[in-house]
Amino acid sequence: MNTKILVIGACGQIGTELTAKLRLQLGKDAVIASDIKEGTDEFMNSGPFEFINAMDKGEILEAVEKHHITDVYLMSAMLSATAEKYPSKGWDLNMASLLNVLEIAKAKKIKKVFWPSSIAVFGPTTPKKDTPQTTIMEPSTVYGISKQAGERWCEYYFNNYGVDVRSLRYPGIISWKTNPGGGTTDYAIEIFHEALRHKKYCSFLSAETRLPMMYMDDAVEATIQIMNAPGSEIKIRSSYNIAAMSFTPEVISEKIKGYIPEFEITYKPDSRQSIASNWPQSIDDTEARKDWNWSHQFNLEKMVERMIYSLSNKYKLMEPELNY
Ligand code: SER
Repeated sequence: MNTKILVIGACGQIGTELTAKLRLQLGKDAVIASDIKEGTDEFMNSGPFEFINAMDKGEILEAVEKHHITDVYLMSAMLSATAEKYPSKGWDLNMASLLNVLEIAKAKKIKKVFWPSSIAVFGPTTPKKDTPQTTIMEPSTVYGISKQAGERWCEYYFNNYGVDVRSLRYPGIISWKTNPGGGTTDYAIEIFHEALRHKKYCSFLSAETRLPMMYMDDAVEATIQIMNAPGSEIKIRSSYNIAAMSFTPEVISEKIKGYIPEFEITYKPDSRQSIASNWPQSIDDTEARKDWNWSHQFNLEKMVERMIYSLSNKYKLMEPELNY
């Protein structure tokens, strides 16, 4: 059977770029995009689309049957900062959507499922530097609790029902095409928009808050790579640590000053600070590198250059030279 993919949450930050990349590789009709809301005109015209509320199992099942879906990527979630404002909604969305997909995968013999976990599964008692794959996990946010429970469910469905579910613990994902919404790592995107438009930014995290981050292209690549890897290489059925870079607001602002010397950063930590303070500063992703050959392409310098270049083009502000 030919691969036929359903991306749920396709209009979100990662879903948008993941859908585009999958369509480039497999053809637009092999990838059904779905979301509870419409995407941009460009996105809606780029291939087949279904309205799906991820909390409604019937709607997912209907699309799976209608399109003879073989693989599902479940990208809808309520992120950390928003879920702290609406704890029960966050829990309900993040859990119900996953259990719906796992149940359908079990019943309909879906070949493969991708579901993202997060560095938010770690908490205040986790070692913060080079956080290992297997360690203490006592998350203190609703988002983190839902991701940790989700990891357990993924492993459970694999062990007990043979559902081939694969997962990554994404760090903060940095991109310029689609904005993130409601995450603690969103500052690392906002800072570029504000630097280019207003030459200043007020950070909601303190100067020295170090967090693991990754450029979008690497996140999409890792996602497709783990899904394409032979099942025998996927030794971890909860979720894999993956890493690319770690930095603080102060460090990234210095890099931005290299392009925009007038740029000024100020700090006014808000409630998101306490979320960030309980997350790892850097991640040990040895297992992913060993098991299915993961490696990142974008370090801090290359990411900053690409963000400045792409957003400058978008805002038509300047045309910096790319050094690579
Ligand atoms: N980027 C996410 C957040 O900040 C972390 O997975 O909530």
